[in-house]
Amino acid sequence: MSPAGDAVPVSASDVEAATADTAGTPSAPGDARPPVPLARPVIGEAEERAVLEVLRSRHLSLGPRVPEFERRFAQRVGAAHGCAVSSGTAGLHLALRAVGVEDCAKEDEVVTSPFSFIATANAVLFEGATPVFVDVDPETLNVTPDAVASAVTDRTRALLPVHIFGYPADVPAMERLGLPIVEDGAQALGAVHADGVPVGGHGHSTIFAFYANKQLTTGEGGLVTTGDAAVKQRIDSERNQGRAPDMQWLDHDRLGFNYRLSDLHCALGLAQLDRLDDMLEGRDRVAAWYREALAPLVARTGLELLCEDRGGNRRSWFVYVVRVPHGVDRDRTIRALADRGIQTRPYLPAIHLFAFYRERFGFREGQFPVAEDAAARGLSLPFFPEMTQAQVQRVVEDLTAVLAP
Ligand SMILES: Cc1ncc(COP(=O)(O)O)c(C=O)c1O
Repeated sequence: MSPAGDAVPVSASDVEAATADTAGTPSAPGDARPPVPLARPVIGEAEERAVLEVLRSRHLSLGPRVPEFERRFAQRVGAAHGCAVSSGTAGLHLALRAVGVEDCAKEDEVVTSPFSFIATANAVLFEGATPVFVDVDPETLNVTPDAVASAVTDRTRALLPVHIFGYPADVPAMERLGLPIVEDGAQALGAVHADGVPVGGHGHSTIFAFYANKQLTTGEGGLVTTGDAAVKQRIDSERNQGRAPDMQWLDHDRLGFNYRLSDLHCALGLAQLDRLDDMLEGRDRVAAWYREALAPLVARTGLELLCEDRGGNRRSWFVYVVRVPHGVDRDRTIRALADRGIQTRPYLPAIHLFAFYRERFGFREGQFPVAEDAAARGLSLPFFPEMTQAQVQRVVEDLTAVLAP
């Protein structure tokens, strides 16, 4: 289906123009209220200054901002090392290669979640391996250690849990399976495991992503944290065309890619790191406003919210996703909200039901019912750190008018 033909346009990435500043554009014909965008990055003078400094230095790539960003980001999540890369997807690719998911046969398997952004599973396909999906927990929407254990075979090469919607997956329990783990933390910067360790701090390669709707943005970009110096060395080389740090110009000792992140991006990332606590607090505040304002609608209609933190796990709020009540047409809800100037998206489609996954692996409906239900009913509401309480009220009023007039 072409994006232009969709009732709800969906772009190459998960939240396209949603991050553009749409203030000032009328909501809808006849509606004078400003629209409420889906997402909006926090960008101020510090970011402008940081990028300008790099521009003026003329050292735009392979410069000092890259290791500085890596060091400070890794420190922030309690990891020994960080490797800046051009996207979260690039990070997944290199992190999987570094644990041996490389040049695989179709029989080589990686156990992961069907309820994630498609990049998670695509990265497994890049190296010819097969993603083995297990259904997610109905509360956390993450894969559980038991479900993962039940899918492990002698062909399993790695586990790839996702901290979906910023809620920590139980990685410490998955460690007992004794297999290499790569964590998809693209949506989870700032999340904390029950044991007090931040997501990314458990020593496994963990990827983060910096598209403009994320908790921290560099425009586009990603970073892999790891506790293993050899993994750091390998990823640093493979992101830079297979060149080791001590090698001569244009000398390459392995297959590599161009997955580098520029100094401009890293400077932006450093400025964002300085304000990360404030941005995370802003997200927590907006989520709390939503929870309170939505309570009557939850009680009246059966609208479902994301789970509360439990057992010491702490969500880092990335998106505010609700599940429309059973029997409600989610896509019609999106169109009705768009008519009122509220930008929302279906979030997330289940990966196994994309046509090319069905064709390639024979997946079909009904295999992962929890993921499929979350995918069918999931609705991402406007959510960003600088959202005002009045905007939250407006979204909730419009959602109420659409769902329970
Ligand atoms: C769970 C998850 N994994 C991977 C990615 C890929 O990151 P990127 O878009 O930077 O390639 C995303 C991006 O949104 C994501 O949400």
